[in-house]
Amino acid sequence: MPTTSTSDKIREVRAQIDRLNIDTPTVQQFMDKITSLLQEKMLKYNWVGFYMLEPGANPPMLALGKFQGAMTPHTRIALNQGICGAAASSGKTIVVDDVRNDPRYLACSVETRSEIVVPIFVHGQVAGELDIDSHFLSAFTHEDRGLVEYCAQIVGHRLETEQR
Ligand code: SME
Repeated sequence: MPTTSTSDKIREVRAQIDRLNIDTPTVQQFMDKITSLLQEKMLKYNWVGFYMLEPGANPPMLALGKFQGAMTPHTRIALNQGICGAAASSGKTIVVDDVRNDPRYLACSVETRSEIVVPIFVHGQVAGELDIDSHFLSAFTHEDRGLVEYCAQIVGHRLETEQR
């Protein structure tokens, strides 16, 4: 049986995301399904979850939303804490190849070695982020980044067009 390359796998998962986007009636259900799909199909994605900015919180606070993987102690994260806070406050994707070398890192699991956090924009403002942890060093390549940013973009677009 031919092996599936990472590019093929990512193309396949993107197509499944597109189908879910059409078939899933609410953005909350869509976010739930994204976490399950990514964790199930992308074998190095060990923890997949959304953090969303709490409406009206002062100072701003990220709150854990839909996720797949072990429960994390970090259910609320301030914008000056962690890789999550850094991604939300800068509005930039952050990829950390070895979390042991990043002093910002807040540990969720002792097994985590690499992490990607991608902001979600709604009307040009950060509204939350998609966070993925891997037990493998440097798990998130350029192609993985493309896939996770694609998911974050669609969620942002749906949040713009739907009532929450
Ligand atoms: N590692 C994140 C915290 C969230 S957990 O990984 C689920 C951070 O450094 O912000």
